[in-house]
Amino acid sequence: MNADLLIRRATLPDGHHDVDVLALAGRIAAVGAAGERLAAPPGTPELDAAGALLSPPFVDAHFHLDATLSHGLPRINSSGTLLEGIALWGELKPQLTEEAIAERALQYCDWAVARGLLAIRSHVDICDERLLAVRALLAVKKRVAPYLDLQLVAFPQDGLLRSPGAWANLQRALDLGVDVVGGIPHFERTMAEGARSVELLCELAAARGLPVDMHCDESDDPLSRHIETLALHTQRLGLHGRVTGSHLTSMHSMDNYYVSKLLPLIAEAGVHAVANPLINITLQGRHDHYPKRRGMTRVPELMAAGVNVGFGHDCVMDPWYALGSADMLEVASMGLHVAQMTSAQGQRQCFDAVTVNNARILGLQGYGLLPGCRADFVLLQAGSPEEAIRLRAQRLAVVRGGQVVSRMAPAVAELALPGRPTRVDFRCQPQPAQHAGTGNPSLK
Ligand code: FE2
Repeated sequence: MNADLLIRRATLPDGHHDVDVLALAGRIAAVGAAGERLAAPPGTPELDAAGALLSPPFVDAHFHLDATLSHGLPRINSSGTLLEGIALWGELKPQLTEEAIAERALQYCDWAVARGLLAIRSHVDICDERLLAVRALLAVKKRVAPYLDLQLVAFPQDGLLRSPGAWANLQRALDLGVDVVGGIPHFERTMAEGARSVELLCELAAARGLPVDMHCDESDDPLSRHIETLALHTQRLGLHGRVTGSHLTSMHSMDNYYVSKLLPLIAEAGVHAVANPLINITLQGRHDHYPKRRGMTRVPELMAAGVNVGFGHDCVMDPWYALGSADMLEVASMGLHVAQMTSAQGQRQCFDAVTVNNARILGLQGYGLLPGCRADFVLLQAGSPEEAIRLRAQRLAVVRGGQVVSRMAPAVAELALPGRPTRVDFRCQPQPAQHAGTGNPSLK
């Protein structure tokens, strides 16, 4: 999609108000100063933001598109644990068809676009001789490419060394066009085999020139330390900036002294970290009595150490999680709460964790609000990133390559109370656009 569009009177995430943004041929051509009205070629469509927040689109750095929307098939996860979820997925796998996987994935991508989520890194299970899910998601990737960037990770769900054929299947998946090397060291038979899997997978990625994104230490075991091994091999093989450790939940339970050594090692290797707040808070700590651990990795501490940390949705209506609707603001909100990132800076960091930080993890080109970037946006019914999280703001418009691909009406309640306003939208900041216009974005 390479269209022209002039967006009027937007608020930007950096706090600038009343800003025009001009998109030409799918790219940002100009960003005006506050109050400056940009000119556009005759006939250019206009979107009046009316003071709403214009952000680059949401990005999800960790998802499972092959399992999404399969909740209840063939049964529900009764213990709520990661391990029962893996077993349940194993029961479902023989019943899967390529068509059913693709159909559910496409439906999820529709939800994603409507939520302003235009880039997703999805793991795809390769522990299946037929590689059904790989073929299905490669077809989906091609189908959605005009409106959504889908990046696929070859994920040995049942263990690279533990599952017969996984090593060969993983390489077949990469040969078919899967983008990233995945792993699951904490699910191998022993710590030693987990470490060996990390070594093998990093070497494979180095040989093929591919990024790495591993499920790593997704447990409550304080001695699960595969992230240390992942940082080591990233350093050894010169993979800085190309490797991601996903989940890292054991870090929540680790000895504090050990973590003080570990954090600089992760930062030094340039390993990205992904927390999955909705899933970590529900799957972890299931074996605890009270007090129960939260189980999310140490997000503010990783950020303070200089590590790029993103948030992922991980699951929506699948064997591990019965909820969700592609809402990255819900993800940011849960991350904010679990990590107690309630300060103004912490809230802003949580917004970054579902936008710019994830874009870095995926290596997206042309992401942002600078001239030359892709004209991809989400227009939110909010006046700031913090307010967007608080309200899980309505996605008033979603733009891909300068073309509006989704619209949603503002969330406004009509009140009938004596002596009180007739409309309420839960915003408490002044809404400058309401003084100048209708307060509702409009497309001309
Ligand atoms: Fe995952």
